[in-house]
Amino acid sequence: MARAAPEGTGLPVVLLSHRGPVSFERDPAGRRTASRGAGGLVTALTGLVSDLPDAVWVCAASSEEDAAVAAEHGGQAVRVSLDAEPQVLGEEGGDAAEGVPSMRLRLVDVEGQAHDDFYTVIANPLLWFLQHGMYGLALAPQLTKREHAAWDDGYVAVNGQFADAVVEEVKAVGGRALVMLHDYHFYLVGRQVREQCPEALLSFFLHIPWPGPDAWRVLPPPWRERLLHGLLGNDVVAFHTEGFARNFLLTAQELLGLPVDLEAMTVQVGDRTVAARHYPISIDVAAIRELAATPEVAEHAAALSEAFGGEDRQLILRVDRTDPSKNIVRGFEAFATLLEDHPELAGRVGFLALLQPSRQDVPEYADYLAEIGATVARINAAHGGEGWEPIDLRLGDDLALAVAAYGVCDVLMVNALADGMNLVAKEAVVVNHRDGVLALSENTGAHQELGAFAVTLYPFDIQQQADALHAALTMDRDLRRARREAAATVVEENDIAKWLHAQLTDLGVTPGPGTPPGPA
Ligand code: F6P
Repeated sequence: MARAAPEGTGLPVVLLSHRGPVSFERDPAGRRTASRGAGGLVTALTGLVSDLPDAVWVCAASSEEDAAVAAEHGGQAVRVSLDAEPQVLGEEGGDAAEGVPSMRLRLVDVEGQAHDDFYTVIANPLLWFLQHGMYGLALAPQLTKREHAAWDDGYVAVNGQFADAVVEEVKAVGGRALVMLHDYHFYLVGRQVREQCPEALLSFFLHIPWPGPDAWRVLPPPWRERLLHGLLGNDVVAFHTEGFARNFLLTAQELLGLPVDLEAMTVQVGDRTVAARHYPISIDVAAIRELAATPEVAEHAAALSEAFGGEDRQLILRVDRTDPSKNIVRGFEAFATLLEDHPELAGRVGFLALLQPSRQDVPEYADYLAEIGATVARINAAHGGEGWEPIDLRLGDDLALAVAAYGVCDVLMVNALADGMNLVAKEAVVVNHRDGVLALSENTGAHQELGAFAVTLYPFDIQQQADALHAALTMDRDLRRARREAAATVVEENDIAKWLHAQLTDLGVTPGPGTPPGPA
């Protein structure tokens, strides 16, 4: 790979992701409050920056209060504490409580219409749907004047605005920095940063699938070429699986005519060699087990056992954002098929769905949530009765409740159409204490690591999913135990620290000053 810094060279770190680690609000009394960001990406990167007091994390201002914090500091980075109730600190962080880590956060305030075009027209749904193989193509997508304007004034403009912020941060540390760019929101940033900061070491990580070359032909040539050249501005472009990395190289070969080496996993761009790598993201095993041991989780677990437990009763669980890629509706249809095929299960097997409403400003997502509600109502009316409701649908975002449910479920259903990784599967296997069976889609990144210990689901085949749920519910107890334990061992050995450490080792950098995270 080109231009990696020599082993052991300390480099300041500049991170970019759309969602940030902290978001500010105003409480009813008018006081500024803050909450820690959730999600795998944010959790993973927080682990890195909390070890690096001088790292700066660039992200979008996602609330009015975020924008106010940014404005109060002239758009520059602010130092924030990374405890349960984060606060803006003085620049040196001396006012942080003893032992509380802090980091620099740069909140980029994007004008409303541009952000809407960037996020709700191009990134979600267009790129997201394309990359998860969700378009039928007969009727969608339709790239009209609206989408063309959203590409130019939204996606391209917003990428430019974030690239400017990253460039400023890199220049502020003298032009040599490790720049870590994240996700499909920012395909164009790498090239612009390279042009303006040729000394920077640039790595990009994609958290969602990268499909083969033909899928990208949905985008007009100027868009897809700009997007690919943007990515090829990085030194390394990394994915969750080897298949996604290979697809990326094949896309560069087929759509740009660039020479690729599928053994070395590189692509030649003029005199530069760009590496495609894969690092499966993971979870912080110790942190989730710590949460699982709290009284709050125990309280939820007791309530769940009351509702779903008991002699001869079993619980199927799913925990997802209400994203069409998660295949929630087909999952419920599979459960209904299971109840039709096995009437003896009526009243004995419950399905708990903990769903977090997601991206409701994108019409496709709002429609999908409505479809979920209608499907649950129909199935419960058809199969419930005598005080029994087959599907218990709970909308919200409650990690403690999810962890309690992971602990007590008999089957965790993950039937995603396509998923870069799926961290729910990894979380559940390390905290479950009922020898729970993982029913896992073959189209998730997690299936590569955990498929051998799971019941595999074929996401479009409702009958197969119903049969697989039955196989999971009737699996021999010793086999259940052995498989769950084996899956937990895989996750323990490949946890989040290893994900970060492997990338930094391959880049040949020790981020500095500070201590790099150690291996798991
Ligand atoms: O995994 C892809 C991703 O975009 C993450 O970056 C993000 O945390 C998650 O999906 C949720 O998406 P959003 O930030 O749009 O709610």
